[in-house]
Amino acid sequence: MSDAVPRHIPTDESANADGHTPEPGWYGLEFNDRNVQLEDPYSQFRELRESQPVNLTPDGAWRLSRYADVHKLLRNVPCGMRRHNGLLPGQEVEDPGAGVFMLLQDPPNHTRLRKLVSKAFTPRAIEGWRPRVEAITHTLLDRVARAGTMDLVADLALPVPATLICEMLGVPAEDQGKFTQWTTDATHGLAVVRGGGDDETRQRVETAAVSLLGYFNELIAERRGKDSDDLLSTLITAEEEGEKLSEVELLSQSIGLLIAGFETTIGLIGNGLTTLIRNRDEIQKLRSHPELIESAVEECLRYSGPILATVRVLHADAEFGGYVIPDDSEVVALVAAANRDPEAFDDPERFDVRRYEKDKGASPHFSFGGGTHFCLGAHLARLETQIAIGSIVSRFDNFELLDDETEWGRSLFRVPARIPVTFSESPA
Ligand code: HEM
Repeated sequence: MSDAVPRHIPTDESANADGHTPEPGWYGLEFNDRNVQLEDPYSQFRELRESQPVNLTPDGAWRLSRYADVHKLLRNVPCGMRRHNGLLPGQEVEDPGAGVFMLLQDPPNHTRLRKLVSKAFTPRAIEGWRPRVEAITHTLLDRVARAGTMDLVADLALPVPATLICEMLGVPAEDQGKFTQWTTDATHGLAVVRGGGDDETRQRVETAAVSLLGYFNELIAERRGKDSDDLLSTLITAEEEGEKLSEVELLSQSIGLLIAGFETTIGLIGNGLTTLIRNRDEIQKLRSHPELIESAVEECLRYSGPILATVRVLHADAEFGGYVIPDDSEVVALVAAANRDPEAFDDPERFDVRRYEKDKGASPHFSFGGGTHFCLGAHLARLETQIAIGSIVSRFDNFELLDDETEWGRSLFRVPARIPVTFSESPA
């Protein structure tokens, strides 16, 4: 097959006429160009879901926005991350160094890497970090309590995951500032890969990646042979049926974990707090009923999560909404669109901190993806966010957002750059 015409774009008129291929188009949402309004991507997603729920884009990728279709893609059809030729979508030639992180792998590699790394992410291992997350959060809140004003990102949403991941990895306190800056810059590399970013950003991303690699190499060398129980040591010694992580795999999983887990958590805490402050009845409900925190964080994930989409490649033909999408096609699951599908959620545009109470049977959201690649850090992200949001809501009151619109960061994800607020301390 010629490379010039992707095989899933119809080359003759009859493909459209028989009803099995939709008219290709962006339909107002040129997602790959970051043309999404981060403040309110949901109206664009709603229009697409209503007009073109199974959308073939002009560049040959398909996009799904209905809950049932996203569920089917992530859970019930043969699919993975790579095309039959072994390349990732958008990749022209094999690059042996790139794509070793588990999220970019198919079985058997994915299965092996995930099994090895998941030893450090069991619910029990993560629960063990609860006292530290509480202590970090309360120290941060103590620092701003008297001031009555803070930046929810710089003073809480960023330092909670940054301090915790550094402590989990065993990065010494004096290096945590530079380590966090490299992680932030390296994460912006995802946006650069997708065609965004100027020369200065590219330069910063490259410097950060090289610095992180060098730093991790030193940390790993120092840990080898020592009997430590930090995350890196667990990855160094993780062994499954005689299999260990190779040096390149170890580095890729370590840096991949940072990139997957850092800005996403900042985004969840930041967007969650903004949404709560904008919905005064809901923040009041949470303050009066702190036991609602688990449900409230799930609703923050559904309603205003940091990741809008995830991608798969079909490994067999599959039918969605009456169309057959061919084997080897790239399919984008618009998880943020599915999370507000009225076919799956009552009153989906309403933010409701009680929605995920145990007896209510609300549909699960897709903000952590689904199927074999379901977010490995979900327990950790939930723990950090429940403690950060739960603590600030119980200690402080009368929040006012100083900016009407959120200032968004340079991340590929939906992550606020700053959220200045005023507040008062709640009476003890
Ligand atoms: C609010 C925070 C987070 C969100 C919204 C989030 C979301 C996601 C999503 C959407 C995926 C892709 C799933 C799929 O395509 O099916 C993913 C994968 C992943 N995430 Fe997270 N994530 C978060 C935090 C974290 C944290 C804290 C870590 C670890 C430190 C982490 C580690 C991973 C890993 C390792 C994968 C790849 C899993 C695999 O390929 O098997 N994530 N995450």
